Amino acid sequence: MKYGFFDDKQREYVITRPDTPLPWINYLGCEAYFGLISNTAGGYSFYRDARLRRLTRYRYNNAPFDFGGRYIYVRDNDTGRFWSPSWEPTQDKLEKYSCRHGMGYSIIGSTFERIRAETLYFVPLGENLEVWQVTLTNEGKKTRRLSLFSSVEFCLWDAQDDSTNFQRNFSTGQVEIDRGVIYHKTEYRERRNHFAYFACSEKLAGYDTQRDVFLGSYRGWDRPAAVVRGRSFNSVANGWAPIGSHHVRVSLKPGESRRVIFVLGYHENPVDDKFDPPGSQTINKRTVKPVIAKYLDPAVVSAAFESLRGYWDRLLGLYQAKTPDQHANRMVNIWNAYQCMATFNMSRSASFYESGIGRGLGFRDSTQDLLGFVHMVPERARERILDLAATQLESGGAYHQYQPLTKRGNNDVGSNFNDDPLWLIVGVAAYLKETGDWAILDAPVQYDNRPGSETPLFEHMQRSLRYTLDRLGPHKLPLIGRADWNDCLNLNCFSETPGESFQTTTNKDGKVAESVFIAGLFVLAARELAEIALRRRLASEAGEYRDAAGRMEETVRAHGWDGQWFLRAYDDSGKKIGSRECEEGKIFIETQGFCVLAGIGIADGMARKALHAVGEHLATRHGIMLQQPAFSKYYLNLGEISSYPPGYKENAGIFCHNNPWVMIAETMLGEGDRAFDYYLRINPSAREKISAVHRCEPYVYAQMIAGKDAPTHGEAKNSWLTGTAAWNYYAITQFILGIRPIYEGLMVAPVVPSTWKGFSVSRLFRGVRYDISVVRQGKGNRVAMSIDGKGFAGNVIPAPPSGVTSVSVRVELR
Ligand code: BGC
Ligand code: NOJ
Repeated sequence: MKYGFFDDKQREYVITRPDTPLPWINYLGCEAYFGLISNTAGGYSFYRDARLRRLTRYRYNNAPFDFGGRYIYVRDNDTGRFWSPSWEPTQDKLEKYSCRHGMGYSIIGSTFERIRAETLYFVPLGENLEVWQVTLTNEGKKTRRLSLFSSVEFCLWDAQDDSTNFQRNFSTGQVEIDRGVIYHKTEYRERRNHFAYFACSEKLAGYDTQRDVFLGSYRGWDRPAAVVRGRSFNSVANGWAPIGSHHVRVSLKPGESRRVIFVLGYHENPVDDKFDPPGSQTINKRTVKPVIAKYLDPAVVSAAFESLRGYWDRLLGLYQAKTPDQHANRMVNIWNAYQCMATFNMSRSASFYESGIGRGLGFRDSTQDLLGFVHMVPERARERILDLAATQLESGGAYHQYQPLTKRGNNDVGSNFNDDPLWLIVGVAAYLKETGDWAILDAPVQYDNRPGSETPLFEHMQRSLRYTLDRLGPHKLPLIGRADWNDCLNLNCFSETPGESFQTTTNKDGKVAESVFIAGLFVLAARELAEIALRRRLASEAGEYRDAAGRMEETVRAHGWDGQWFLRAYDDSGKKIGSRECEEGKIFIETQGFCVLAGIGIADGMARKALHAVGEHLATRHGIMLQQPAFSKYYLNLGEISSYPPGYKENAGIFCHNNPWVMIAETMLGEGDRAFDYYLRINPSAREKISAVHRCEPYVYAQMIAGKDAPTHGEAKNSWLTGTAAWNYYAITQFILGIRPIYEGLMVAPVVPSTWKGFSVSRLFRGVRYDISVVRQGKGNRVAMSIDGKGFAGNVIPAPPSGVTSVSVRVELR
């Protein structure tokens, strides 16, 4: 069962019915102003921080599920019939509904009683505003006299406060209406120097800014009083709920079309120049007016939309693959890369499952996300790395999160997630391999944002390693702290109090529980740092890190192996977790994938055994589960993991984030068929045909698919903001297709299915365009290469002489 189709040429997913199983969404904006938009125009907008600068309201977990949005109403003034072209909120039966989600824009269009209404929503590059361009067309035979109403509900900036502090907020709301532009200025009179505006390109027949006047009392958004009667009330909000609604009359002859543009935006004024005239309470509009005027011009809107398309052509053009598999092509060339940019911009803050209130930017999340977007926006990746590192503590530990607006570590969540600092090394290594920008290692970076505490970034990475080594447990494995990658394996929090945080309530001394996962991550990070040290001519440090990695590997072999697979951890009483000795949770995915990915046990067969066990105990047709058997009850000593019903989330759900660890591990053993098989099981496009089961968007990864113990096995949840995006992109592009940046150049090491006759990749790397075509000659993964027609030994393409900007590489797989 499908709800739409991929239009790969346009880089769009076209949804053909509004009642998708869940809201299928898209993101608007790629710099500072952002919006979420569903296929029925639900969603909201914010400036930089979804909590602290929320422009419009959205009602999470509402019924209907998706509510609050950028709704427009069309009304036939002769009959009084009105409808929403995006289906919500009136839910009329539309003819020819479609929602085209594209790269940074969505076009929602429908026809109703011979009126075609199509709205293009996007955020122009470089601007803090969004454009809604509505095109109305009369497809009938008689002239139609129509009314068009726009609507947004303003959020009073702090989304948390907005949804809780009603005793105050019902009295603070303020607007100004000036020449048809609605300005939302709640709290501008006191400490804010920002406001929102909502403008329209046409002469207005009226407006409304007070929600309950526009809707009428006891009425909802499905039949606003103003729309029903066909005329706005010209209401002015004082307190209660400020909204923005314009009313425009449009008369259309048969075949005639009209464009109406709405612009919703955010603007800041200098603190000492907020009012005009000075001393008044009226917003100074001198700098905002030109911006508004500019985007009410259809020619400017068209040009801005073209530049947005061009921006994505360029970003996506950096890596393009042609393989025999359309699902791989589509995800690699379009959607997976696009999703990686969403995770870069949002981390885990604002989606239809993340309320924009709870979380800032995660340290481990953002450092891993780098793997997926570093090639697209290297300069912004550099800035992100330096911002993250500046929240690191002198101990080498890291704040688990920081707030994007302040770029400061978040004290509510604090530190002591013991895997966090090591991911910094993984992220910086990816950046160095991509860019060759070794100078970043010398950039002075503060600790805990304290001026005067700067050391070179390289020392931050050294302290990351030290942090682990300073915290070893009874088996000399790393202590786990509050949690490692698996936030829900809480071995130092024995919580019996409902509502207590499993992560931040720590009531064990933390000196016993150890993580085999962190050990694997340490081996990878320490070897990586050794490579980096070598290239900085720090031979003795390099040796030291290699030795530390070697020792840790030995420790894993001695105390982290269960006979058939890698153990997961030791709990607070020193008991094994993820062992055949356990009653439940005998085997976990994290250590099987990550230890092998780090190179542990490849030479001696442990790796092969571990991956065999994954296939045997964890793999399902919907993907690889996190652990088995699922925990059937709550375990005080394990924490949140056992709080989920079996099959969901970390309790034996298919956690898509670490499936690619296993894919990469399989490629390390040369198993291209198996790696690609696992890849396809969770590939959203490959699952499109089972949309009724999968339920989430078929164009982006979800964090989780319900595991076999769940009654809804195969159902996805928490789409968009997940490390799954970066890791899958990394696995398919760098390990399966095998086009991999390394310090010295571009490595070609494909491990693809044995049935593939070949594939090609065009990749921009350090300013050079590489066109690589791979042809299978034998069954194996051995590479024979020729560069620009000349045979070449080895599989690392060196940088061409300066001045050469394109290189063509032919590869035979033997
Ligand atoms: C979720 C985890 C998430 C954590 C963040 C938990 O409830 O299950 O996936 O990492 O919250 O704090
Ligand atoms: C989601 C979190 O964002 C991520 O940091 C964590 O690793 C996974 N959940 C697993 O718990």
